[in-house]
Amino acid sequence: MKNKPHLVKLKKDKNYAWCECSESKNQPFCDGSHSKLKQKFDTIVDALVEKNLISNAFELQRLIEQSDKNPVLFKAEKDVEVSLCGCKKSDNVPFCSGEHVNI
Ligand code: FES
Repeated sequence: MKNKPHLVKLKKDKNYAWCECSESKNQPFCDGSHSKLKQKFDTIVDALVEKNLISNAFELQRLIEQSDKNPVLFKAEKDVEVSLCGCKKSDNVPFCSGEHVNI
């Protein structure tokens, strides 16, 4: 994740998936990594229940917040260059709303 927009060229009528979970290695687009978060979440919860691992509380909170996020699907209406959000805090996802300046 970076705290500034990604300037990308979109192709008319092409479908895109903007990453909302921050785990994709192909930012700002989805690479399917969000599906691995639920599995990791379940593993950590099992360990916490079994061993009472308080030190994983921060990681657990992050996974809770991220595990229910899915990519934002959108379609380009025309060939266009746009700024897609990289900070994941935009008020107008998948596009940059300028919110990154407040981070
Ligand atoms: S990068 Fe601009 S609002 Fe996220």
